[in-house]
Formats: sequence, structure tokens, C-alpha cells
Amino acid sequence: MQNPVFAEVYERAWRPVFTRLFSLGGTSTAAFDKQLTARLSRPGDRMILDVACGPGNYTRRFGTGLDRAGLAVGLDFSAPMLGRAVLDNTGPQVAYVRGDAHALPFFDNTFDTVACLAALYLITDPMAVIDELARVVAPGGEVVVFTTVRTRLTSVPGTGLLNRATGFRIFDRDEITDRLAAAGLTDIEQTITGQGQFVTARKPSDM
Ligand SMILES: C[S@@+](CC[C@H](N)C(=O)[O-])C[C@H]1O[C@@H](n2cnc3c(N)ncnc32)[C@H](O)[C@@H]1O
Repeated sequence: MQNPVFAEVYERAWRPVFTRLFSLGGTSTAAFDKQLTARLSRPGDRMILDVACGPGNYTRRFGTGLDRAGLAVGLDFSAPMLGRAVLDNTGPQVAYVRGDAHALPFFDNTFDTVACLAALYLITDPMAVIDELARVVAPGGEVVVFTTVRTRLTSVPGTGLLNRATGFRIFDRDEITDRLAAAGLTDIEQTITGQGQFVTARKPSDM
């Protein structure tokens, strides 16, 4: 992720193929992704945070329909990824911040929507990051996660070794949902589309 060449090809070449691989053995990840991002890109004066935004491929979409008081913020720790984001995915309601998802540089209860897409499985301490997502989302706001999930296909012998060698992690079916619940979020919905899971959760209005 720190490689400028990878950052350059990520959005157009790598991500579309990767999304399709996630559909293996299930329904279309790309179709669900399209529907979810259309909902998250609706107009309004909302504040949206895209954690581990890569080259801003989702951040720009989230910012497209926002009113002048709204803002989509993409956060990543990779300079090459953020360099691409600034070149390819800017907009009047879009901003980028370099930072670590384990310690988000934002106050509690700041964002109406906090997304973390296709990144938790690469992050050193993903459960600490889930707590951060829950911390910065505003009461009544929503957290959205897309990541891996253990299935029959990803439980075959050898995948554990592969995970350890590559740092690519596969989450048990309840791992993400349980942690969101432990962080106090409610209305937790999980959709499994093959080898990936989309999870949405809400922070109670009185929290
Ligand atoms: C596979 S890309 C995902 C990009 C985009 N969210 C998407 O869905 O296509 C994963 C991103 O996570 C970022 N990342 C990994 N660990 C991070 C951390 N601790 N803090 C911030 N960003 C991190 C990487 O730099 C990379 O840009």
C-alpha cells in the first residue's frame, strides 16, 4: 500500500477484480456495493468519514451529492495512496487527512457516517479500529464496514498459514458484529455476499 505503482493501478485495475473475487461462491458483491454506495452518496449536509480510503475511490463518491455544509473526509496512512486521491478524486466537498485508523484524529461523535471498506483485514489491530469508528460516529449516525468473512472456502487447510504469511486476515462470522455491539452500536445488519461481508450499525441517539 506504500508503493506508488500499486496506488496508481489500484482504483481502475486492482479494486474491480478484487471486488469480483469477493463474490466467489455467493451473490454479487459488486451489485451490493453499488446499492450501498448509492445510499451513502445521497445529497445532504452530512459529515462522512472514509477510514483507510486508499486513493479516495469511495470518498469522492460520498462527497459528490453533499450540500455546501457537508464534507466527505478520506483518511489513510499511505502517502502514495493519498497522493493519488488528491490527483484523481477531489471535489468541493471532499478532503483528505493522513492518519492512523487506530487513533483517528477527530473528536468523539463527529460524523454522520463512518465507513471502513476493504481495509480491516489488512490493519494491525482491527478491533481497536472498530472501537475508533464507534467513537467518532455521532449519536444517530451509522458505521459501515466491508471486509472478509470466514466461509467454507476460506476455511480450507493452508489458509491460516497464508493469512499469517501475508497479514491478510479472515474474520470469523460474528467477530465484527460482536465488536460493534460491544462498542454500544445497535441495529447491526450483516450481509454476506460470497467471501465478503457488509455490516451496518447505528449509534443510539441517546449515547
Ligand atoms: C485495500 S485499500 C482500501 C481502499 C478503499 N477503502 C477501498 O475500499 O477500495 C486498504 C487501505 O488501508 C490503508 N491502511 C492500512 N492500515 C491503515 C491504518 N492503520 N491507518 C490508515 N490506513 C490504513 C492502506 O494504506 C490502504 O490504502
